[in-house]
Amino acid sequence: MLFELDPFDNPTGELRSVRKAVRHDSAEKHVSGSALYVDDVGTPAGTLHVAVGGSPKARGRIARLDLDAVRAAPGVVTVLTASDIPGHNDVSPVGAGDDPLLADGQVRFHGQPVFAVVAETRDAARGATRRARIEIEDTEAHLTVETAEAAGSHISPDFEIVRGDPVEAFGGAPHRLSGTLAIGGQEHFYLEGQAALAIPQEDGDMYVLSSTQHPSEVQKAVADVLGIAINAVTSEVRRMGGGFGGKESQAGQWACLAALAARVTGRPCKLRLDRDDDMIMTGKRHDMLARWRVGLGDDGLLRAVDITFLARCGFSTDLSDSVVDRTAFHTDNAYFVPNIAARTKRLRTNTVSNTAFRGFGGPQGILAIEHVLDQAAHALGLDPFDLRTRNLYGPDRDVTPYGMTVFDNIAPDVMAKLEEVSDYRNRRQTIAEHNSTAPLLRRGIAITPVKFGISFTATHLNQAGALVHVYTDGSVHLNHGGTEMGQGLFIKVAQVVADEFGIDLDHVKITATTTAKVPNTAPTAASSGTDLNAMAARVAAARIRERLAAFAAETYDGAAEDVRFHDNQVIVGNRSVAFSDLARQAFMARVSLSSTGFYRTPKIHWDRKKGEGRPFFYFAYGAACSEVTIDTLTGELRVDRVDIVHDVGKSLNPAIDIGQIEGGFVQGMGWLTTEELVWDDEGRLRTHAPSTYKIPTASDVPAEFNVHLHDGINREEAIYGSKAVGEPPLMLATSVHSAIFDAIAGLAPPDSRIPLDAPATPEAILRAITTIREGRR
Ligand code: MTE
Ligand code: MOS
Repeated sequence: MLFELDPFDNPTGELRSVRKAVRHDSAEKHVSGSALYVDDVGTPAGTLHVAVGGSPKARGRIARLDLDAVRAAPGVVTVLTASDIPGHNDVSPVGAGDDPLLADGQVRFHGQPVFAVVAETRDAARGATRRARIEIEDTEAHLTVETAEAAGSHISPDFEIVRGDPVEAFGGAPHRLSGTLAIGGQEHFYLEGQAALAIPQEDGDMYVLSSTQHPSEVQKAVADVLGIAINAVTSEVRRMGGGFGGKESQAGQWACLAALAARVTGRPCKLRLDRDDDMIMTGKRHDMLARWRVGLGDDGLLRAVDITFLARCGFSTDLSDSVVDRTAFHTDNAYFVPNIAARTKRLRTNTVSNTAFRGFGGPQGILAIEHVLDQAAHALGLDPFDLRTRNLYGPDRDVTPYGMTVFDNIAPDVMAKLEEVSDYRNRRQTIAEHNSTAPLLRRGIAITPVKFGISFTATHLNQAGALVHVYTDGSVHLNHGGTEMGQGLFIKVAQVVADEFGIDLDHVKITATTTAKVPNTAPTAASSGTDLNAMAARVAAARIRERLAAFAAETYDGAAEDVRFHDNQVIVGNRSVAFSDLARQAFMARVSLSSTGFYRTPKIHWDRKKGEGRPFFYFAYGAACSEVTIDTLTGELRVDRVDIVHDVGKSLNPAIDIGQIEGGFVQGMGWLTTEELVWDDEGRLRTHAPSTYKIPTASDVPAEFNVHLHDGINREEAIYGSKAVGEPPLMLATSVHSAIFDAIAGLAPPDSRIPLDAPATPEAILRAITTIREGRR
């Protein structure tokens, strides 16, 4: 940086927008329906529509691809197959080369895109896909992690994070338990499905409007597929109707298909996936099987935790390596475990390629250790809350299994605060009394913590750029590499820029993300959108401010360091000039009113081979207390009350942050209670529509839902002492799973394991109760 910016405060001495509960810039447009998404943007005359035809088998060789009837269908302009691709037939995000745009020769999952129809209308395109005749010479498909493991089918070598000697420590522990936990996947169910509009430009250039978290990757993928330079492609996104990780790498394929169609036909082409196709053809949260062993002392301290995760990666590599690494990074959650192994197997299966989803593998690691603690508390007859707090990181117990010091550990404070505000002890007592007299409707309660590492573990992604212009009327144009998906990134960055200039927030124009303004960006992901982009934008704005300060000092006879920007005025000595006037004067004096800004996260490094380093800039913390009622006759579940204490450092915008906490929690609750993905034994996804796949609705939100922001500041120099908030709250929902466990555990003798997997659907709850009642565990 050229100059010193106080990371926690502002040189004007007064923050007017930062730390205020400002509403989302598009809130009114969202609810009135006037916010523009890809499908709402007016299309140029002659726009064609693209639909995709998928493989009828999970695995095999394409023996015959007869598309004559498709071509002959009314309205069809052309039909595209792999042979129409002028560049590379690959859209893999990390260069693995195993993500064909269109299947070529082999198919690897049921529904894999094989061809694309380009037609005058969307209906014509979709209808025509049904006329294809595809013959597949089947090969045996690996649909589950077990069959893939047995066949040695991996996307990459096993990876583990190990400290101490978990095998020996387990053997020597007075209390030893083991079991397996099945962890379900999750469909993103962004309300806006995958969509892209490609418009051919002169000289073979391509403009692509895409619903993507990663415009730079879309740009590069389109260039690769078309066989043109990256500078011939511009990729843009104003907003997404949700991404949740599902558009981090997997928006590329649809943008590339639209661009390919546009290249071949020379006309604008739009592709908006039908919901069923979206669910069938795009990856989900990785489902995993966790085989666990835990050894504890008589004091309830963890001596050994040893968990092996079998992750279903699907047919291709995609982001699975980073996702499953993050599982290993979060198997400790908030606990110090002297001997620990988080072992991971990355299994290649003939199912859709699983991908990023809010938490990015972390939730599976956290759920696993929390489940292990639930089993241990049950076996040892301890209050699970006491077992948890006893094992938290603390003084002299503050180094993670990967060698990073937990320098900012506030988990004990957060847990203590939650114990108090939730009235945990009294309620546990009341629940115990209730359960002793009410055998049918049983209640359960649980508190679980979250510690989540903030930064991309692929260190190079922790960078961002911004571009800020001041116009001659003092209005400001703001652009940066981050994308808006509903999470409130744009308003937070605008707040920061407004305060840098001391101007009203509504003088800052929020603009669409485009590769033409800020290049080579990271995806908006890993919750770090604000940390990265707000810093870059602040740097850009500060550069212009410094120039304006120097100009004002010269013009009005003061010292540049004393110039203040406040309340839309620029104050030099005892003179005050409107910011807008100063902007015009500066322009007349030929002062540049535009600047880029760049930021990269300091201090982080990670040596994957050694399993050591500081992969995270800091940790975000939180804890949730959930109370549930289950019906022991039907398995039905109600979440009665939820209390949350969550750490966002010093919030940049409490309204947005609370929204993220509530939304993340409810999304996590869906993952763990109602959302169940079912594939049949031919590898067909049977739950490919909201009729069979149940996301939480408004009526599932807990009747009593209290969110408290932890009072604190980021100890690291993140923007104004705030912390990332996008993903961590999802993992607070683990408390719902633990509360269900608690409700069921009361029915089981202490020497038994509670057979509760995730999701804990009513069927799963009933199965667990039946198993316990029949004494099968
Ligand atoms: N909130 C909304 N409303 N919609 C989303 O798609 N995605 C989540 C989270 N919160 C998402 C969301 C995910 S997966 C991430 S990584 C972060 O937002 C990304 O944004 P951020 O880095 O700006 O927090
Ligand atoms: Mo979020 S899963 O990092 O896009």
